[in-house]
Amino acid sequence: MSSPVTDATYEVRVLDVRIEHRDPFGIGTSRPRLTWRTDTYIDGWRQAAADIEIDGAVSSRIGPGCVLVDWPGAPLRSRQRATVRVRVTGTDGSHSGWSAPLEVEAALLTPADWRAEWVSPAVSMEQTALLRCDFDTPIAGDGARLHISSLGVFEAELNGSVVGDHVLDPGWTSYRSRVVAETFDVTDLLRRGRNTLGIRLADGWFRGRLGADAAAHPAHYGDRIAAIAQLDVVTDDGGASTVCRTDARWRWIHGATTRASIYDGEDHDARAEPAGWSRPEFDDTGWFDVDVIEHDVVLVPRLGPPVRRTEEVEVAEVLDSGPSDGSRLLVDFGQNLVGRLRLDVDGPRGTTIELRHVEVLESGVPNAASLRSAEATDRYTLRGGGPERWEPRFTFHGFRYATVDGWPGRFDPGDLRAEVCHSDMTRTGWFSCDDPLLERFHENVVWGMRGNFLSVPTDCPQRDERLGWTGDIAVFVPTACFLFDCAGMLRSWLTDLALEQRDDIGVPWVVPNVLDQWIGCSVWGDAAVTVPWTIYDRFGDAGVLEDQYDSMSRWADLIVGWAGGDDGDLHLEWVFQFGDWLDPTAPGDDPSAGATDKHLVGNAALCRTLDLMRRIAALLGRDGDAERYAQLHERARSSFVRSYLTADGLLTSDAQTAYAIAIAWDLLPDDLRTVAGTRLAELVRSAGHRIGTGFVGTPLVCDALCDTGHVADAYSLILQTEAPSWLGTVGRGATTVWERWDAIRADGSLHPAAMTSFNHYAFGAVADWLHRSVAGLAPDQPGYRRLRVRPLPGPGLDRAAAQHDTPYGRAEVGWERNGGHIRVSAVVPPNTTARVELPGSTTSFDVGAGRHHWDVQDPSRAVEAQR
Ligand code: BGC
Repeated sequence: MSSPVTDATYEVRVLDVRIEHRDPFGIGTSRPRLTWRTDTYIDGWRQAAADIEIDGAVSSRIGPGCVLVDWPGAPLRSRQRATVRVRVTGTDGSHSGWSAPLEVEAALLTPADWRAEWVSPAVSMEQTALLRCDFDTPIAGDGARLHISSLGVFEAELNGSVVGDHVLDPGWTSYRSRVVAETFDVTDLLRRGRNTLGIRLADGWFRGRLGADAAAHPAHYGDRIAAIAQLDVVTDDGGASTVCRTDARWRWIHGATTRASIYDGEDHDARAEPAGWSRPEFDDTGWFDVDVIEHDVVLVPRLGPPVRRTEEVEVAEVLDSGPSDGSRLLVDFGQNLVGRLRLDVDGPRGTTIELRHVEVLESGVPNAASLRSAEATDRYTLRGGGPERWEPRFTFHGFRYATVDGWPGRFDPGDLRAEVCHSDMTRTGWFSCDDPLLERFHENVVWGMRGNFLSVPTDCPQRDERLGWTGDIAVFVPTACFLFDCAGMLRSWLTDLALEQRDDIGVPWVVPNVLDQWIGCSVWGDAAVTVPWTIYDRFGDAGVLEDQYDSMSRWADLIVGWAGGDDGDLHLEWVFQFGDWLDPTAPGDDPSAGATDKHLVGNAALCRTLDLMRRIAALLGRDGDAERYAQLHERARSSFVRSYLTADGLLTSDAQTAYAIAIAWDLLPDDLRTVAGTRLAELVRSAGHRIGTGFVGTPLVCDALCDTGHVADAYSLILQTEAPSWLGTVGRGATTVWERWDAIRADGSLHPAAMTSFNHYAFGAVADWLHRSVAGLAPDQPGYRRLRVRPLPGPGLDRAAAQHDTPYGRAEVGWERNGGHIRVSAVVPPNTTARVELPGSTTSFDVGAGRHHWDVQDPSRAVEAQR
């Protein structure tokens, strides 16, 4: 338990020393950057200096930095361990003691460290395999490490125990180039003498169908699934001895999981599971020899967290208990979630239980339309003879309801649990207010993120898609960076984006790319720039800009070429565009044909990208590029104005998104900005404060209204309960964010279009505005080194608050109406400052770290009083 801030035993202490964007065990970098936070009750505390100690030697004294500080010691070698401690001195002369030690350990850092070979079982698509090998080791005890990866997905067992708690390892990366190798501490599982290492192996994302073409079962990355593993034991001299590795001695047999597919689910026949197969006593006579195969994929340690089971959800209600023998059931988990079911059952050998997962009911009946061709069905055949527990290993589903067929005997709801699975990111952001529907919507956004951050950021988690759509994360990334620490996961995804992009057609629509036909387009391809920029802005990680610069400038230069090259108008015309995807007026079968011209959207995005490139190049000291992009930005902006601004100051698409992006991305001459804001407010009002935007306009429309003085209209829009609106979906029972505003229509029927997901985070991107503007907590400098405290109270809410664990510590901003006043509160973390602009005021002032309160006159009362 941590001590309260006023604990008299310390004034200043260093907490949470950490590295990069992941846990410190098995890291892939030899010079991990360090971050820590300072806990103190001294108001206005600032760090003047810090000492960093590595393995007992004070290596370095640095200045005020405490976020992603360069590794001050010698580079780590493969497997090397180091102990890091930090202490700080304040500008006021106060100082901390040493922090708790952080143990850092490197993984295998070079290909030469790998002595193992890729071993492959001869299983066909959707079949699974068990692989095993016995080995002897005279040494055990201190420091046994299993380095392991697969072409496919794996779960390892050592001497009968599952290794680690990850799900669907090694996750999905651009397998043509790189695959994650995991490092596990298996010291406690290894014993002196005979041991057995076993690996369960299935297709995962490596092989099997990916993408919406139900007929195709392409082997996207290769015909053979395979595993590679190496178990090293640390020797007395600090070296490592490999005691087991995959090679030709390994043997395999078909797994009792007779079918495993990401989209379709898993069949498991427990009768066929060889008891004790990963124990040394097991007799593997009759097993086959593996094939040793060549594969040139690069093994890399992961950059972010692994996928884990993060929560267990109980059955909320048994809706249909079926025939009296209980053999067919319909259960409701009360929440659309992503993961799979775990069952506890006791019944006759050979009984098969079938679990079908769906997101919605229509007229009380499970409706699987949102899954398209994904079968999302698991089957378990009982071994019999006592209680059994089972959960599929190699699939996941997006569901709220499940039908259960064939349950033997009486069904107790406690026998079925939903295991929620996703990349195990730390939650960092919260929002609350006095409107329960808005709070529920925010909760839906959180669930949407959890469901779609499963190894890669996906469009949706349930249907025959689940792909890393670039446009979806491009619009959602600011919200994502507030809610969870997703920097590591997104940096990994960006690495793949850079690997997959092409000099002729740009950034693929999906990363990792499994689509055959694509050509880069605006907003979606711009993820190459907007995602790293947001990671820099929210986490203070300038390294992401450096690392992605080649990727982003290749993309920017390609679209500049498409837009007309080096002189004249800079204008994208023929280029393929998804536009303001899925605005509520777009025809069901053409989501890009909404109210805003898709080329207007594309050219606005070109301006935005060039503006960011200008800033990024300047930040990185690439002055020539900064100058070039600044000129290109000006040209693109002038071309935008020439092409889309009419003589009376309106835009050629007289639609919410057109004005929202023109305002938010600063595309208009100053004098016309107000005109655009007025027109946007008129459009929003004439729509009865119902939403009129798609993927691109939705995150921006409330900002654009507020930035042009129409806060009340933004509030009416966010608090609107009539469809189409955010809260309209909540009113129709949404527990996640939908792909379409009218995924469930007024009469309760489901939208008939094939593309209707009930778990798509894109429209949840407005949550970033809730955090920054409704509650008033935003970064003013990268990584929240300076906060911007600027709540914009509006009609319909009497209080709102947000908390965010910034790299420097917990920040909080909230406000509450009280009679004719508003009380604003803020917590500014140590070593940061805040620029504060209070409601009703247009001037700002700075405050230092600490807890602050201000009482101001409620501006809405002031307006009323003047009337
Ligand atoms: C996906 C989207 C994606 C879109 C682009 C859809 O199938 O689900 O979210 O951005 O295609 O066209």
